[in-house]
Amino acid sequence: MSEKAILIVGDKKLEMPIIVGSEGEKGIDISQLRAQTGMVTYDPSFGNTASCSSAITFIDGDQGILRYRGIPIEQFVEKPNFVEVAWLLIFGRLPKREELQSFSDQLTENELLHEGLNHQYQQIPVDAPPMAILSASLNNLACYHQQFLAVEDIESLGAVAARLISKVRTMAAFSYRRSRGLPFIYPDPHLRYGANFLHMMFSLPYRQYVVTREMEDALNLFLILHADHEQNCSTSTVRTVGSARANLFASCAAGVSALWGPLHGGANVEVMEMLQRIHDGGISPDECIRMAKDKESKFKLFGFGHRVYKNYDPRAKILRSCCDKVFATLKRPDPLLDTARKLEELALEDKYFQDRKLYPNVDFYSGILLRAMGIPTNMFTVMFSIGRLPGWIAQWKEQHEDPTTKIVRPRQIYTGPTKCDYVPMEQR
Ligand code: SDX
Repeated sequence: MSEKAILIVGDKKLEMPIIVGSEGEKGIDISQLRAQTGMVTYDPSFGNTASCSSAITFIDGDQGILRYRGIPIEQFVEKPNFVEVAWLLIFGRLPKREELQSFSDQLTENELLHEGLNHQYQQIPVDAPPMAILSASLNNLACYHQQFLAVEDIESLGAVAARLISKVRTMAAFSYRRSRGLPFIYPDPHLRYGANFLHMMFSLPYRQYVVTREMEDALNLFLILHADHEQNCSTSTVRTVGSARANLFASCAAGVSALWGPLHGGANVEVMEMLQRIHDGGISPDECIRMAKDKESKFKLFGFGHRVYKNYDPRAKILRSCCDKVFATLKRPDPLLDTARKLEELALEDKYFQDRKLYPNVDFYSGILLRAMGIPTNMFTVMFSIGRLPGWIAQWKEQHEDPTTKIVRPRQIYTGPTKCDYVPMEQR
């Protein structure tokens, strides 16, 4: 006998089914509420609302657990392979050797951009925001791959996923090269995913950039840790746009726009600017903590706090130790890492942060790692987008394959003027 919730509204007593997830999470199914009561629920930022059921990513915010298709993210640390994790998220299981090789070959075959798209980069202002370029470029891809505007089967989904995941690197690197007035470095089909990106970013026509294994592993791990995170703001945006049967290019471009926000993926840029300000003496760590607690200051300790994690974000833990490993290899410490650790120490022992369960999130250490790779601060959120793309594609695919999917259309509680008449200009 399945559990039910009882709702008493006026003289009505309603029974609503309680659905239970595979990890024991429970939800009250209110899908018949309006039909039975004429009422809607009110939950403005959906903090108490499940927008869907999903089998892709599991988060336990209280325990600080994150699993991709059931696999704890800690198990990807040893031999990080972003392409393998992308396949896992999209197709629902770990790929066999030949499947992984075939997907990797598809990425190689699709790493170039249409020359028409390349030429568009020449018209973009050199100081254009990289996230604006990325969102526009993803939408532009639809112009050059119109055969994928409607994805009818898993083969074509795989083909468009390969195009997006491969080309997003080329787009990001070309926008960086444009911003620096450097010639474009085309992808090298002999390089693995991450190494190829760093090659396109930092090689010169007369000198190939040498990618160390440590840096390549650090980049793979960074991308894996950003690959999916259940129904976060940008993924919910991708699902909302996709629910209208908009194509995958448009849905992912919308995801980039949502991720750009400083409260979401843009936080990694804010964290770096905050750490740099502290390092340059503009502000002390103690002053940072004081301002973060002062409501009047509007200052936030970026990289801290999370809607779901009320414990240490497991991704932040892995990124912090990855930073230690990379700097030990580079044999040049980054003073900003010391500043970040000092800030974390002060915050974690402060009652304000303890009472609100505010811990470092994925953005707190990620920028320090990207800086060690030579990635400029204004591209940090682009890097987040490259990581999150397979997650967006997986969530979009799951929604498209669900026969119960309907267009996303929330209701509202109207608080505006009651019925009134138009007033002609001469009477106003
Ligand atoms: C990401 O959802 C995801 O999964 C996102 C993400 C993903 O992988 O997709 O994990 C990626 O977006 C990580 C979050 C990056 N953002 C930041 O680091 C920005 C700083 N963090 C805050 O803006 C905030 O913590 C949020 C937006 C992340 C979460 O906000 P919530 O859940 O809406 O919490 P809240 O704003 O209601 O805060 C509760 C209390 C408030 O104080 P009181 O009103 O109770 O006195 O905590 C305070 C807030 O003022 N608070 C902070 C704080 N974060 C929350 N105070 C100081 N500094 C902070 N960073």
